[in-house]
Amino acid sequence: MKKVQIGSQEVQVGEVDELCRVLADEVESLLVARAEQGKCAVLGLATGSTPLPFYDELIRRHREEGLSFANVISFNLDEYEGLGRDHERSYWCEMWRNLFDHVDVKQENVSVPPSVSDDPDRAAAKYEAAIQAAGGIDWQLLGIGGEGHIGFNEKGSSLNSRTRRVTLARKTIIDAAPSFGGEENVPTHAITMGVASILEAERVVLMARGASKKEIVHRAICGEVGPEVPASFLQNHINVGWFLDGDAAGS
Ligand code: PGA
Repeated sequence: MKKVQIGSQEVQVGEVDELCRVLADEVESLLVARAEQGKCAVLGLATGSTPLPFYDELIRRHREEGLSFANVISFNLDEYEGLGRDHERSYWCEMWRNLFDHVDVKQENVSVPPSVSDDPDRAAAKYEAAIQAAGGIDWQLLGIGGEGHIGFNEKGSSLNSRTRRVTLARKTIIDAAPSFGGEENVPTHAITMGVASILEAERVVLMARGASKKEIVHRAICGEVGPEVPASFLQNHINVGWFLDGDAAGS
């Protein structure tokens, strides 16, 4: 893995398995340190295809090296509206399928924003309060959408945005269509942690893989900071890590 300076940001570039090992090292150190302090580690986790090999590495460490998730509290970034937890495309299901089912995390310590709610504003406020009650997020993982979203903070999301109900961008719906068997089946709304909620995490890492992310990743890392590319707000986080494979870095 090599460090590359892009604009004001230091960027880690490497093979996907290398990136995942380094990210898993960060999580492992956090979990071990918190366990020694008798405390929980609070993780902010993401869905999508990007983190899958990273989750595989965490599962491997649990199975082969005994890394325990018993003291993990986790909050997911976002959830589609209206699917219900048992829907196989819900992020609740995705997280259990891809990570939680395979490690010793306690179900009561896992939070994903509610997919179904009579009162989304109240549900969003409750989600924020739960993060605060857990002591805030220690380590937040992010992917990046084709137009620069983080969570479902689409283009236009402000620096001050908090957890809320959002309308999905057309590009997000198009990108999700294959896994839903067509655009018409993709939910039009979601609930997402806001930009401000994400930036409050102690450490934030953004991972991107593949040539399709190259242009947007560069805009996020060294373009103008603002709502046009919500991931660009990370440039001003005091402890951000950018983790790119060669294709996303364009090297
Ligand atoms: P992906 O999605 O990991 O499936 O590319 C990332 C995102 O939309 O945040």
